[in-house]
Order: sequence, then structure tokens, then C-alpha cells
Amino acid sequence: MAHPVSTSELKVLILAASYRTESLNRKLAAGAARLAQKYGAVVDLAMMREFDVPLYDGDLETSNGIPPGAQEFRRRLLDSDALILASPEYNGSMPGIVKNLIDWVSRFRPQPFDGRHGLLLSASPSLAGGNRGLWALRMPLEHLGMRIFPNMFSLAMAHKAFSGDVIADATLEKRFEDNIHGFLELAEAAKNYPCMKKAWVEFPGEPPGAGVDRVDSASS
Ligand SMILES: Cc1cc2nc3c(=O)[nH]c(=O)nc-3n(C[C@H](O)[C@H](O)[C@H](O)COP(=O)(O)O)c2cc1C
Repeated sequence: MAHPVSTSELKVLILAASYRTESLNRKLAAGAARLAQKYGAVVDLAMMREFDVPLYDGDLETSNGIPPGAQEFRRRLLDSDALILASPEYNGSMPGIVKNLIDWVSRFRPQPFDGRHGLLLSASPSLAGGNRGLWALRMPLEHLGMRIFPNMFSLAMAHKAFSGDVIADATLEKRFEDNIHGFLELAEAAKNYPCMKKAWVEFPGEPPGAGVDRVDSASS
């Protein structure tokens, strides 16, 4: 077994972007939670229903503000050091429910995705494992300033792959574990050993200007 990530608490929010009771992505998220705990992380395993929001509507935002489901997601995100998101692939892209949640949560200022570390996972009965959906999901999250871990994990033939929340094939389970561990190590390093050098973070969704040009600096 690799070393535990750290003796200091690393808090990880883990979410499967599916409402389905028998969701394969929920199983993968549960597996990620089990492994993250094995390496010493404190896990908040969330359910999509906890973040129910209406379809984004600018008029609704003006009249009612940002809905409670998005406020709750923001609270849990800010309370964590990193996010692990297990998402199905729908028609070669991400499910609408997850993009809709991202859109609502992106309306907060300061924008809560900015600068946070994320790991993307997918599970699908298909042979590609939902990997195209993750490339689509990277786009809005990186656009919002998240640091998405380069290695993404996609589980193919997922309907036949699990034994409980463990991937039955030992080689694949090891690869999954290494992916989770590598991500936790990076998130832990970013939390406890922030780079002393200032780094400019691109936020292409806004016009340039002092208010939106963001400089991410070491906290002390
Ligand atoms: C509307 C819709 C579109 C889908 N499109 C894809 C797809 O493009 N690629 C894929 O691998 N699976 C696709 N699937 C199958 C899902 O991967 C499968 O239903 C999966 O179990 C959903 O994730 P969940 O089990 O976590 O709910 C699609 C399913 C639905 C309902």
C-alpha cells in the first residue's frame, strides 16, 4: 500500500452526477470514497438530489436569487479541499443535470470553482466507459478555473465490472486506486505546500479588467 496522503485532514467532496438508485457512477463514487478514506482523507459523499435546482433562468435568478440546491453545493465545495465527480456520459457529452448545477453555482461571487482541484470519473456499460463525457465536463470546469487532474478514470462495461463497490478485475481496481491516490497527493500538496510563486489563472468567460483578472497567490 502507498503511504497515507497526510496526517493533516484533506477533505474531499465526492459526487455522482446521476439520480438513479442503481447508478453505476454512484458505485464508482462509493469506490472512490472507500479509497480516499483508505489514504486518510475525510470524505463527504454527496447525492445529486441534495443539489436539486430548477433549469437555469436569468429571470428566476433576478427575482429569487440563486436556489438552495446551488447554495448547498457551494457550501459543501467550499468546505472541501477537492472535488471528485463521477459522471455518466449522455450522447457523447455530460448529462444536463450536472451542467445545469455548474451553471447555477458559477453565478456566485467569488466564483467557488476557481482554483479548486478536481478529479473526473465515469462509468458506463459501453466500451469507452463514458470517457468522451469527461472531456466535455473538463471544459466548463477548467473554464471556471478548476485544476482538473490530467488522469481521468473511465470504467467500461461497468454493468459487469463491480463486486459491491470494488472493481472485480484486480488490475483495473489497482489502476483506479493509483488514480485516486495520485490525485489526493496533488490536492494535499496544494493545500499544505502552496507554491510561493504567483500564478495567473485564465478565466476566458469575462472581458479583461481589474475586477476579473485573477491572480492566484500563495495564502501567506
Ligand atoms: C439519454 C442517455 C444518453 C446516453 N448516452 C450514452 C453515451 O453517449 N455513451 C455511453 O457510454 N453511454 C450512454 N448512455 C448510457 C449510460 O452510460 C448508462 O445509462 C449509465 O448507466 C448511466 O449512468 P448511471 O448508471 O450512473 O445512471 C446514455 C444513457 C442515456 C439515458
